[in-house]
Amino acid sequence: MDYELILNDIKPTLDEKQQIENVYSELMDFLQNVCDSEGIDAKVSLVGSVAKNTALKGKSDIDIFIAFPLGTDKQYLKKTGLDLAHKCCDKFDATPQHHYASHPYVTTHVEDFEVDIVPCYAIDDGSQLKSAVDRTILHTRYVKANLSENQKDEVLLLKRFMAMTGTYGSEFKVGGFAGYLCELLIINYGDFENTLKQAINWQYGQSIDLENYGTSHNFDDPLIVIDPTDKNRNVAAALRLDKMAEFIQSARNYIFSDNKKDYFYPLNRNLEKEDILKEFSKRGSELIAIQFNIPDMPLDTLHPQLKKTCEALERKLNDEEFNVFKADYWSDEILTSVILLEMASSTLNNIKVNVGPKVFFNKACENFAGKYGRENCYIQDDFLVHTQKRQFNHANDFIKYIFSKEHINLIKVGKNLRKTITDTYKFVDIDDFNDANFLEFLDDFINPGQHIVR
Ligand code: UTP
Ligand code: MN
Repeated sequence: MDYELILNDIKPTLDEKQQIENVYSELMDFLQNVCDSEGIDAKVSLVGSVAKNTALKGKSDIDIFIAFPLGTDKQYLKKTGLDLAHKCCDKFDATPQHHYASHPYVTTHVEDFEVDIVPCYAIDDGSQLKSAVDRTILHTRYVKANLSENQKDEVLLLKRFMAMTGTYGSEFKVGGFAGYLCELLIINYGDFENTLKQAINWQYGQSIDLENYGTSHNFDDPLIVIDPTDKNRNVAAALRLDKMAEFIQSARNYIFSDNKKDYFYPLNRNLEKEDILKEFSKRGSELIAIQFNIPDMPLDTLHPQLKKTCEALERKLNDEEFNVFKADYWSDEILTSVILLEMASSTLNNIKVNVGPKVFFNKACENFAGKYGRENCYIQDDFLVHTQKRQFNHANDFIKYIFSKEHINLIKVGKNLRKTITDTYKFVDIDDFNDANFLEFLDDFINPGQHIVR
């Protein structure tokens, strides 16, 4: 496999590097100057993949941290950090956007680059940690000291492979591998190919402990990578089991593939709506699509809530004896969201069995028989049951019942979504959507394995 060819396509050009460097040095100089001239005791530093030289081409977000001494008052740190970020945005004509990690930080765009400006505490050791972002400076230092020049290319290959097979990114929407996690994998396994070769034999609870802290047994995550800068932190804590599994299988597929190069480039998808709809109709399933508005909220809260809602609705339908073959959600992340239910069957007969107590509970059985009529009750296994009329024959009717103010609490809906669902939900036809992003969602829905094999 000729990795040079691929690196040519995925490594930032010298031009791009120069451009980034110009931008971040101007921003950092400005911020440090304001600190120095206003007597603010803080040190501005560059972190993240740009600092570590592990950023993919065209993907560089500039991560700038402002580190305050450990003794700094938390309120002062928050306020001063935000003030500094705002001054910086003013100076560079950029629009600030607020975010909240463990404390507020600002993102903005300067000359096409996404810039994060984050206040934090300066720490020398994970044990001193006061907020989750404090480790980041230590991460940068560790990677710079332990990742060789050649290995930076190996990190790029791994990040790109993961990005193209759908497993890169620790944001909730993906639940995959963080950049820092990729760097630690390369430090541990040496290079890209060996990482994949080792991954095909990973087990649940696989652990990597680069500094031999011996703390792996404290975690029961699917993958445990002890943070070299903090023995009590699993760097892979945000990695979901299904994403770990997708990585393992895509590594197997890659090793046996004759089209290795293709794993580093986007899928060739067919996003013709007609073809996608035809695929759905071949499956003979009934589709139920429910659209509703979403509130303005951080994406890392929105996605878990949508996922939870979708899963809860699926479970409730199945409990009610409707048969959901597959359920998933889509969102434009601004205004709207759709829950798509592919039903193996969405209509039911008119009757259902109401299961009562076990026959060995005399009192309970007498109550049950009293309520439903002794002549109507019979035995299933050792339960006393009776047959009653079903309230809902069609899944749509049941969903209407659930998605009402009175009954929405019957399922576990994300708390920011409850009101907007009951107020705005409607049944829609997937035919009516032309958004390319939605068509990708449908395509993934029908072809869930397409990302991990070429
Ligand atoms: P980024 O998400 O920007 O990652 O977080 P990155 O290493 O720069 O990689 P890319 O190329 O942009 O995707 C910046 C830093 O924040 C810490 C890491 O130290 C990372 O380098 N971080 C971020 C974590 O420790 N865990 C996370 O889940 C995310
Ligand atoms: Mn970054």
